[in-house]
Amino acid sequence: SNAAESSTSPVLVEFDGRIAFVTLNRPEKRNAMNPTLNKRMLEVLDELEGDDRCGVLVLRGAGASWSAGMDLKEYFRDNDGKPRDATLKARRQSGGWWGRLMYFEKPTIAMVNGWCFGGAFTPLVSCDLAVAADEATFGLSEINWGILPGGNVTRAVAEVMNHRDSLYYIMTGETFGGQKAREMGLVNESVPLAELEARVRKICESLLEKNPVTLKAAKDTFKRVRNMPWDLADDYIYAKLEQMLFLDQTRGRDEGLKQFLDDKTYRPGLGAYKR
Ligand code: ACO
Repeated sequence: SNAAESSTSPVLVEFDGRIAFVTLNRPEKRNAMNPTLNKRMLEVLDELEGDDRCGVLVLRGAGASWSAGMDLKEYFRDNDGKPRDATLKARRQSGGWWGRLMYFEKPTIAMVNGWCFGGAFTPLVSCDLAVAADEATFGLSEINWGILPGGNVTRAVAEVMNHRDSLYYIMTGETFGGQKAREMGLVNESVPLAELEARVRKICESLLEKNPVTLKAAKDTFKRVRNMPWDLADDYIYAKLEQMLFLDQTRGRDEGLKQFLDDKTYRPGLGAYKR
């Protein structure tokens, strides 16, 4: 999306068949998230939101890492001893893009190709879906250097993993692989690294067939209603549904009904209507 983007940029964006591959690109630092990367990621998400070349966003890492978490030097130590606003600014920059990612306009998939530590769990869980390589290594390593999982990592873990597993890995800092991540619900699937991109592309294909307005409404609704009481959730869901019908200029719902009930050209139980 950025012509001036060079291979030294901390974030790379490449398009292929309406998939935007966004690559965390500091392989020499295992794609640790420093302030420059965090600032750039927020801009990239802004740029991709309105870019038709992006129908689905895949977040991956350059080299053998997804992300080694926060940059322990540039994010933490370099701010020690500075006025408090330096730390707060660094937090806003990382939290800024993770929050944007959580409710991004397009579907998002974390493609976890390698190391995934600490702070990286928040963007991981913020993505709608996640597919890992069996060979990937995950860890809540905060405990190993004397802090607790901040940056909403604790909340992200609690969102997708159960109580016992969460505490086990928060307290031991032990590493685990892609298959274990799948068993615990941290990722949807884990496949051999050699098959990772093909599998992610396949999921993208399925998502790209769907009505994008409906997808956005459906994912946001799920993420938001989980923490609501039932009566609020029921009301919110209908409000979202009606908002979606209002926003969908293609009138997908009517088209879907027509193709099934009148044209008899597809079966909703077995696949999406033709857009
Ligand atoms: N922050 C800053 N620099 C990092 C980070 C990080 N999170 N991770 C790796 N690097 C740097 C190393 O300092 C090293 O830099 P140098 O070449 O200038 O010396 C370079 O990346 C390569 O690191 P190695 O440790 O040599 O790479 P290796 O492949 O042997 O190990 C591993 C990779 C396991 C990811 C290791 O680098 C590591 O443990 N990193 C820290 C992981 C971590 O605990 N992250 C913080 C989680 S807590 C949080 O995010 C809040």
